[in-house]
Amino acid sequence: MLKIEGLHAGYGGFEVLRDVSIEVGAGETVAVLGPNGAGKSTLLKVIAGLLKPSSGAIHFENRRIDGKAPYEIVEMGISLVPEGGRLFPELTVYSNLMMGSFNKRTRRYFKDSLEEVASLFPIIKQRKNQVAGLMSGGERQMVAIARALMSRPKLLMLDEPSSGLAPKIVASIFEFVKEIKDRGYSVLMVEQTVKKAVNVADHIYLLESGRVEFHGKKEDFLENPKIKRSYLGI
Ligand SMILES: Nc1ncnc2c1ncn2[C@@H]1O[C@H](COP(=O)(O)OP(=O)(O)O)[C@@H](O)[C@H]1O
Ligand SMILES: [Mg+2]
Repeated sequence: MLKIEGLHAGYGGFEVLRDVSIEVGAGETVAVLGPNGAGKSTLLKVIAGLLKPSSGAIHFENRRIDGKAPYEIVEMGISLVPEGGRLFPELTVYSNLMMGSFNKRTRRYFKDSLEEVASLFPIIKQRKNQVAGLMSGGERQMVAIARALMSRPKLLMLDEPSSGLAPKIVASIFEFVKEIKDRGYSVLMVEQTVKKAVNVADHIYLLESGRVEFHGKKEDFLENPKIKRSYLGI
């Protein structure tokens, strides 16, 4: 579904991503793990069209998407939940969700989309008139994911959905990620915290200093001696 080949990208002359190749199959959840500064957010920005790669190719459903504008990529069915959610804090939950369904393809499905995200996140109905900035971190993350789903994506990208949240809240966020996968969405998430993210992923990529240092199935990841030592503390 998503195929990234030999991607190089950076900021000015500063190269961040070096020869990155990643695939996400339809209905799969893929986790890209790696330490702070590895290039995880840069990778998602490039896929979302917010940053132009210097070389390499990105195909989505067999169409080339690198070089397309961010709104075109949303129209094609890829949505990004940026780190921290980036809701409009002074707007209500409802208005934030409206912002998510503004593209041409999905505007007319606003009501259906709203029903669907409310069935996933009950909080949306209870709090629809609340100002987003007054919600807790976990609630904001849920609304941010809901807003991304309002654009009816086929592929949902999550930038560190657990960042800054208490362990109990993190567990419930990953429960939602699982539920989203069960509803048939493909998911590409990046995370620093290894253990929780691994549980919901089918495939894992390890990104270090902008290079893919490992990729494989969850089971291979958990059994890899180097990963056990460096990331799992075993
Ligand atoms: N807007 C930017 N301008 C210049 N350098 C940046 C910018 N954003 C990130 N970087 C640099 O790119 C590298 C990778 O950053 P990032 O993709 O945010 O990593 P991660 O999300 O894995 O923590 C870091 O060295 C960071 O300082
Ligand atoms: Mg980041």
